[in-house]
Amino acid sequence: MPTSSTNPHLPFGENKNAEWYGKDIISVKQFKREDLEYVFGVAHEMRGMVERIGTFDLLKGKILANLFYEPSTRTSSSFTAAMERLGGSVIPINEVKYSSVSKGESLPDTIRTLECYADVIVLRHPETGSAAIAAKAARKPVINAGDGVGEHPTQALLDTFTIMEELGRLDNLNVTMLGDLKYGRTVHSLARLLSQFSNIKLNYVSPEILRMPKEVMDEVAEKGVPQAEFNSLEQVLPQTDVLYVTRVQKERFEDPADYEKVKGAYVIDPDVMKAAKQDMIVMHPLPRVGEISPDFDDDPRAAYFRQMEYGLYVRMALLAMVLGKA
Ligand code: NCD
Repeated sequence: MPTSSTNPHLPFGENKNAEWYGKDIISVKQFKREDLEYVFGVAHEMRGMVERIGTFDLLKGKILANLFYEPSTRTSSSFTAAMERLGGSVIPINEVKYSSVSKGESLPDTIRTLECYADVIVLRHPETGSAAIAAKAARKPVINAGDGVGEHPTQALLDTFTIMEELGRLDNLNVTMLGDLKYGRTVHSLARLLSQFSNIKLNYVSPEILRMPKEVMDEVAEKGVPQAEFNSLEQVLPQTDVLYVTRVQKERFEDPADYEKVKGAYVIDPDVMKAAKQDMIVMHPLPRVGEISPDFDDDPRAAYFRQMEYGLYVRMALLAMVLGKA
């Protein structure tokens, strides 16, 4: 039987042979340049569909288990919105203290339970490597929504989509990552993902104790991408095309005194931004806790609120892909 779309007018059809059907999304290392172009193409279509008709039935009848062991506003609600805009439904598990996790259930058992009821599982968990453990236990696709200080692949995909939509390119970029590069999983994924593009330069600006991990720098270096570390933003801001600001990840510090030493180390405000170009963007995965002054929000270069919206379209694309509908 030929496969058919749920609605002949939609630009998507069911394709169980598609490369991403049934796949887990655990790391950005799974995404080559061509894959990114594909994700962005689908995300672009999703944006058009949302703008034209809001909600449509591509994933009607499908269920997402949204399993969050760590706090989340954007990732959790954008996955929920993505599933619902595609006509599917969601089992939300935000407060694991009210689930059997609080009785001591293991992650693999929780995953095996949820996949009896759902078609895809989105997981955020405090331990690095947990998404891979969950994916091993599951027959259904698992999407990593942040595994401790490890990776946050869907964030990096929406971050690169944002850069593409805002600046029109992913090659020839001078990218400055600022803040907590040690514990910030978003920058670990983004640096890896950007390292595939041509003529990329990565600047890392952070306090000494929050440097980018060697493991990530080694992987980026293998791709031949120049990287340099700085203590002060002034040295690199004038050449920067993308300034990616991060929050100091208080919850991940072993010694609270260390957090006190580095919190508030960098603050982006209209005055600081006078030194930056006009055709550049400022991004942040959010939440912010003081590292970008709200006084900067009305500047056209402030892309962080638009970035959140792009996340909806990228997550719609990923859900459709792993469920064989894109
Ligand atoms: C980030 C995260 O959870 O890693 N937030 C997000 O997903 N948008 C960044 C952070 O918590 O600082």
